[in-house]
This record gives sequence, C-alpha cells and structure tokens, in this order.
Amino acid sequence: MALSIRHLLGLENVPKEDIQLILDTTPSFLEVLNRPIKKVPTLQGTTIVNLFFESSTRTRVSFELAERRLSADVVNFAASTSSVNKGETLLDTARNIEAMKVDMVVMRHSVPGAPHFLSRMCTSSFINAGDGAHEHPTQALLDMYSIRQKTGALEGLNVCIIGDIAHSRVARSNIFGLKTMGANVAVCGPPSLLPHEVESLGVRVFTNLDEALHFSDVINVLRIQLERKAGAAFPSLREYRETFGITWRRLEGLSNPPLVLHPGPLNREVEISSDVADGPASIILDQVTNGVAVRMAILYLLGTRKESDS
Ligand code: CP
Repeated sequence: MALSIRHLLGLENVPKEDIQLILDTTPSFLEVLNRPIKKVPTLQGTTIVNLFFESSTRTRVSFELAERRLSADVVNFAASTSSVNKGETLLDTARNIEAMKVDMVVMRHSVPGAPHFLSRMCTSSFINAGDGAHEHPTQALLDMYSIRQKTGALEGLNVCIIGDIAHSRVARSNIFGLKTMGANVAVCGPPSLLPHEVESLGVRVFTNLDEALHFSDVINVLRIQLERKAGAAFPSLREYRETFGITWRRLEGLSNPPLVLHPGPLNREVEISSDVADGPASIILDQVTNGVAVRMAILYLLGTRKESDS
C-alpha cells in the first residue's frame, strides 16, 4: 500500500484510504519507540529540513525525534537567526535550502497556504506543521490515532471540539479528518469564537457546554489563542472559564465522562483545569507520545513513496 498524496498539506480532501494507511502504519513505529535502541535505518540517506517560522515545542521536537529515529539527516532552520531578517523572501529561502539537495521539508508558518505555495514552486515533499489558522494535519492525525487507540474505532463516535474554533488550525484538520473517518463531529464555544457559517463544514454546533458534554464520547479542548487576540472575543478569562472551562466538577456529574484531549500548550485554569488535564479521563500525554510514532509513519510513507505510486 502507498499514499496517493506526495505532500501532506492538510486533511481537507485527503482520501479515507490514506488516513487509514497512516493510522495503521503507526503501531509498528510505536513498537520501535518502546525498544531500548529507538532507531531504524528506514530513511538513511534522506535529508529533511525543519523550516519553522513560528514558535513550537511539541511539533518541532516531535518531528526531529521522528526523523532521527528513522535515521534521516536532519537540519533545523530557525527563522529568527536566518537571512529572512535581511529581507530574503520565503521562496528564495526555500529554493536556496533545496539547492543543497534536500528531500523533504517540514514547515510551520503564520500565513495560511504558505506550504501549499512552496510545494508548487519546489521539488521536495512538503509536510505542513501548521499554517496560520488553516490546517495542522499531523496534529489531527495524532489526535485521531490517540482516540482510536482508546476507543477501538472512529466510525460513529461523537467527538466535540471545544473552545477557540475560529483561530484553530487544529479544529479544521480534526473536522476534515474525523468526518472522513465517519465520526459525528460537533464544535462548542462562544459564538464570537465560532467561524462564520461553521455549519457548512458539516458539524453540529453547541453554544451550551453542558449540552455539548452530554453529546460527547470524546472532547478535544482547544487553547484560547491569546496571541491571536482571542481574548477580545469574551469579557474576561474568568467568565470564559465559568462558561466553557472543562473542570472535573463539570465532568463528574456525567454518566459517561468523555475522553479528554488537548493539543497543547495548555492555559491551565482557563480552558481546562489541572484536575482534568492531569486526571484519569485525560490522554494529553498519550497524544504527545503517539505524535512521534504518527510522524514517523507519515515520514516513512512519504519518504519511501515512488512517483509511480500515484
Ligand atoms: N500542538 C502543537 O502544535 O504544539 P506546538 O505549538 O508546541 O508545536
């Protein structure tokens, strides 16, 4: 089996078979992570550049570990210490790096569509590690893998994404991926943090958190993106916490408390309380562990793919 796609730029319009293949390939790499020597020669001779123009902890470290554990040659590019500061364009930066014989590029950028643009102008295989508020496909794939690991299946599962949907690339990729895999997807948040005409994405919409929790087998709690001015969309963080914050007091009254995911980083005691984040319903750290194996699966499938596979 091979992926039908040459780049992983988003999950919108990615076929179910490709998502299934990535999720089904992941356990063999999880097994590698549990060995004393966590390394296989799969991508020996492949050069991968991590091109990060925006801050990241989990995604950047996770990709680098995944690449090194596949024995790829890895180069990390930090925009803050590069010639971007001298006015070099995004395209010139990418073309110069590619001229050094690079095979794959993992890219995070604040502008939606930036990796899509470069993938059309360059010859390397591109993986989107987050483009503005557009998509974050590897986060959604690790979320789906983590849910499936706990529940056994995604088909027919009720999944609600809660919080700052309007600014969230994680929400968009999760909606596209989960719907493709047959889950029933809902979103919940204050109307000011829901995208215009969000129903057109084929999701149920809740503005009452208790109703959303009654619907949900799984909740994916999103960070309030204060750096993208999301705080201006409601009167105060205290009011947000009272109305939409996930606390154990809120979950414990439910007959079946949902599984709790959060992509990180957390605003503790804002969108999620520590008694939930660190409690028995939370799989937040499983998501992080699984993220390395999911990214190894993606790098392996894209890095060993041949043009004749498409
Ligand atoms: N989940 C996520 O993308 O986290 P980072 O911004 O730390 O990579």
